[in-house]
Amino acid sequence: MASSDNAAILDRYRNTCVIGAGVIGASWAALFLAHGLEVVINDPQPDIERNVKALLEQAAPTLEALGLPHQGLDARLRFEPDLQRAVAGVDLVQENGPENPEWKQKLWERIEPLVPGHALLLSSSSARPATEQGKLMKDASRLLVGHPFNPPHLIPLVEVVPGERTAAEATADAVAFYEALGKVPRVLKKEIQGFVANRLQRAIMRESCYLVQEGVVTVDELDDIVTSSIGLRWAVNGPFSSFHMGGGPKGLESFFQHLGKNMAKSFKVVPDVDLDEKLQRVIIDQAAASFGQEPIPRMERKRDDAQIAILHALARVRAKD
Ligand SMILES: NC(=O)c1ccc[n+]([C@@H]2O[C@H](COP(=O)([O-])OP(=O)(O)OC[C@H]3O[C@@H](n4cnc5c(N)ncnc54)[C@H](O)[C@@H]3O)[C@@H](O)[C@H]2O)c1
Repeated sequence: MASSDNAAILDRYRNTCVIGAGVIGASWAALFLAHGLEVVINDPQPDIERNVKALLEQAAPTLEALGLPHQGLDARLRFEPDLQRAVAGVDLVQENGPENPEWKQKLWERIEPLVPGHALLLSSSSARPATEQGKLMKDASRLLVGHPFNPPHLIPLVEVVPGERTAAEATADAVAFYEALGKVPRVLKKEIQGFVANRLQRAIMRESCYLVQEGVVTVDELDDIVTSSIGLRWAVNGPFSSFHMGGGPKGLESFFQHLGKNMAKSFKVVPDVDLDEKLQRVIIDQAAASFGQEPIPRMERKRDDAQIAILHALARVRAKD
């Protein structure tokens, strides 16, 4: 989309309210501010101002590497603990509060009469679908899930998940908004527990825990195996297009001819993994013996630098296509 279109879309949603500014909300706030939006934070935490400003500082090198403004962002940032005042006149709400369905339902019920009719109501929830969240609203047509990946100011994907009462126009507006922020929004056709990306992560994590439980590999060996094989592959091709190439010139057709039957059989064997306290302790201790010694902010910095390098490299290669 042309940058003038993006500017027009962002202008439409200039006044935003970020509800709940912990890990996810503060990161959304950083991204919104870097794109020139006004942000009101609504969060009862006593240290909220200090915490959000610390996140803005921490996110600055990432925003800079993404080519975004990263200084003086707090000029357009306000903190308003009163919900009614926080959402008055806003064009968009991004909710990132506790993952508690009753809390989210009551929140949207309260917000509905307080915001203008055009306001987009977006929830970052990883688990609570919009249909459930909007149960107490009279009109839930502007409410939907915009589920990011941590940290939202860096990772491109946003899963856009409309509820049963979400208007098609609101879904299109949310997609346009996230695209204008440089995100990669993907709309899910149905609400499903865990959405898509977390279901995939869960399947991998289940198998990872099983392999550690059985003593096949340690935690750091498993991480190494992933980053030097499927992790690298999946930053470029998803599972389906990867196996399409794995099938030779006839792609998935011959892949399934050769491997389909065995794969179908293996799908039926679900390994017995019990992530009880004992296994959790094994994982924590093995992590502590390797990467677990490194302070998390340093790990996060290295993670962000490496992911930015990958994003930039991919953009360069894809520009030649
Ligand atoms: N952490 C992740 O990796 C991740 C990823 C994607 C989506 N999410 C979703 O984002 C949401 C927030 O998750 P998080 O990890 O940032 O949690 P968090 O605990 O870090 O932040 C939650 C924030 O909500 C605030 N809060 C509590 N009560 C509130 C109230 N009444 N009004 C306003 N704010 C209130 C808390 O003070 C806190 O700052 C959840 O719905 C979660 O499912 C999390």
